[in-house]
Amino acid sequence: MNKENNGSTPSFTSKIGLVMAAVGSAVGLGNIWKFPYVTGENGGGAFLLVYLACVFLFGLPLLMTEFIVGKHSRKSVYGAFQSIRKNRRWQWLSWSCLIATVLVMSFYFMVTGWCLSYLVDAIAGTISSTEDLSAHFANLSINTSRVLFFCSITVFITALVLWFDVNKGIERLSKILMPLLLVMMFIMAVKVLMLPNSNIGMRFFFETDFSKITPQVILSAMGQCFFSLSIGFGALVTYGAYMPERQNILATSAQVVVLDTLVAVLAGVIVFPAVFAFGLDPAEGPQLVFVVLPSVFEQMSMSRFSSVLFFSLLCIAAITSIISLMEIVIAFISDLGARIKHPINRHKAVVITIAICLISSTLCVMSVCGTPDWLKIAGHDLFECFDAVTSYFLLPLNAFGMALFIGWFVPKQVIEKELHVRPRSLNSTAVSTFRLVIRYLVPIAIAAIFLKEFV
Ligand code: TRP
Repeated sequence: MNKENNGSTPSFTSKIGLVMAAVGSAVGLGNIWKFPYVTGENGGGAFLLVYLACVFLFGLPLLMTEFIVGKHSRKSVYGAFQSIRKNRRWQWLSWSCLIATVLVMSFYFMVTGWCLSYLVDAIAGTISSTEDLSAHFANLSINTSRVLFFCSITVFITALVLWFDVNKGIERLSKILMPLLLVMMFIMAVKVLMLPNSNIGMRFFFETDFSKITPQVILSAMGQCFFSLSIGFGALVTYGAYMPERQNILATSAQVVVLDTLVAVLAGVIVFPAVFAFGLDPAEGPQLVFVVLPSVFEQMSMSRFSSVLFFSLLCIAAITSIISLMEIVIAFISDLGARIKHPINRHKAVVITIAICLISSTLCVMSVCGTPDWLKIAGHDLFECFDAVTSYFLLPLNAFGMALFIGWFVPKQVIEKELHVRPRSLNSTAVSTFRLVIRYLVPIAIAAIFLKEFV
């Protein structure tokens, strides 16, 4: 993190530094791996429309909420709520954020492991569309030792970054690499759109069949929106704590929302036309991009180079998100230590976090690979369970809690102070609109969507 240690609170030295860090945290596997398959499973265009609605209805105000909580309290997600309210009644929200983070981390490592394995295959030139790409993925996903190996490499890389505190370097690197990923995706989209039948895929992705909008689709879209924007984990509370005093929260949040959504939509524009051009099933599930992309690379000039470049960028995007996920836990543990009068220094906190990651991701990998049997819950592997619990339950709950917290329990003056940042100050109508949305619209909509599906 680009910190300037001038006393107690580290802060980002530049406004753009914070935007890049928040975008680096938001853009990751959620956009490129998860968004296409969840869209495919939920009927394409209908899902996209609901997703975009969620991004603007929930995404923007909730990003602002997390930033305000972090910036005002200058604390990690452990101490933020309690420091603003001066009581411990909101402590459950901190713990709930922590649990969501740990659950997501455990499968995020596994999927990053899959990506690394594909990167190695791309370098070795051992994936080609002449073989059965579904079988290639199926073989990988049940190969416990291979997935565990790549998963451990991911843990090891992130451990090195965190241990030596070289986040600054990583951030500088990702300032160059993330735009490169975007350019690469544009080129892939153009190539894909030239394939025969690509228009069927575009219609699948962009044409809305309103009859397909069910409560389940809406709940999935909401969960995906929270996951992709990193809402409900406290990630942006943590970043907000490092925000320069004069940063414009609305502008920062809008930039994160737009860039994150752009990458997700671009991933859809690559994946769906290709799915129909190659005669695949859009509802393939989590293996979707791994089955589709290798065939896309074969259409491109310098196909081996393109696939190596793409998988490298994807791994880097995944690792920057993992680092930000781990940063939440590290800051949480350090603050918890201080609170229980057991000071835990950064290195100790890093070791504890890595141990948690190793254990939870190993369990997840073993469960998906199918050994041993008892690592499944009612026939579902831990990845499916963790994903469902976070997307359908914990993230909506945390978002609901944060909206109530900022809307009803934080004095209006605090919000005004944090949002009225010169030189581009927001006028008071904008502040009242924000309060109206976050007090009524967001919590009522989340509760309604949740109850409609489950009650
Ligand atoms: N938003 C990330 C993605 O789209 C995943 C993610 C979820 C995340 N929660 C997070 C990243 C918390 C950093 C911090 O891939």
